[in-house]
Amino acid sequence: MLPEDGLETLAGYDAIYLGAVGWPTVPDHVSLWGLLLPIRRSFDQYVNLRPARLLRGVTSPLAEPGELDITVVRENTEGEYSDSGGRVYRGTPHEIAVQESIFTRRGVERIVRYAFEEAKSRRSHLVGATKSNGISITMPFFDEIFREIAGNYPDVEASLMHADALAARLVLAPGSFDVVVGSNLFGDLLSEVTAAIAGAIGIAPSANLNPEGTSPSLFEPIHGSAPNIAGDGVANPAGAIWAGALMLDHVGYSDAGEQVLSALELTLESGTKTRDLGGTASTDEMTDAVVQRIGDDA
Ligand code: IPM
Ligand code: MN
Repeated sequence: MLPEDGLETLAGYDAIYLGAVGWPTVPDHVSLWGLLLPIRRSFDQYVNLRPARLLRGVTSPLAEPGELDITVVRENTEGEYSDSGGRVYRGTPHEIAVQESIFTRRGVERIVRYAFEEAKSRRSHLVGATKSNGISITMPFFDEIFREIAGNYPDVEASLMHADALAARLVLAPGSFDVVVGSNLFGDLLSEVTAAIAGAIGIAPSANLNPEGTSPSLFEPIHGSAPNIAGDGVANPAGAIWAGALMLDHVGYSDAGEQVLSALELTLESGTKTRDLGGTASTDEMTDAVVQRIGDDA
């Protein structure tokens, strides 16, 4: 999945722009644990920032225009995705599979702190995704740290919500959220819900950030490789384009990032969109239309 010296090569760059990877004949844990997940980990990209906003020209199944503007802050290096555990008595009827969720104080503190800062720079409202009613060790630990850190942010309205109820509330009242912070798995699931509420999973971007800049950060669409439409030329380029805008912003070209996002929004508004958004444009047509509009005023 990655050349021997792949990580070393990538380490020399300021940022990584990644396309969705995966193919049905390659097991997912091979393509992901051989590429994306080692990059997230070795480069300590511990924040996975996933903005969801209802762009003009896109219809949401659930939200009114202007109502949806949520950022999911997902922990990206530990938690449920920890590669720790094993299988015993393989191939026998009493085979056992054990996988540990690893939550470190450092890991939880830094993601929760990042989320509070993010909330502070936005509408000062933060919800932490927990599940301490059912998961009795790691989640109370997460909650404890969340409350500790909340004490340092008196101006941020912060609360914890069980992830199941939170998922339901996202569907019923998406306008009531600002920033949501969650563990690796909860952040993954909830950000796919917010992406769908924002109109389509094909639109949503993802910034895998190493906030200290000690290693490159990685930018990618949230969606997967969609092998069912591979080669048809109909994939929605919006997620990749928006991820590109986030990357420009990250490397210090926020004006350029805004121009790209605004060109995307103008294009969607004009009706040039792929079929997952109710349009008829091909991937190339929609992309060309965005490129043409770069520099036009929103
Ligand atoms: C994502 C993806 C990955 C994840 C998969 C492909 C391992 O779903 O970036 O959201 O769960 O992190
Ligand atoms: Mn996902």
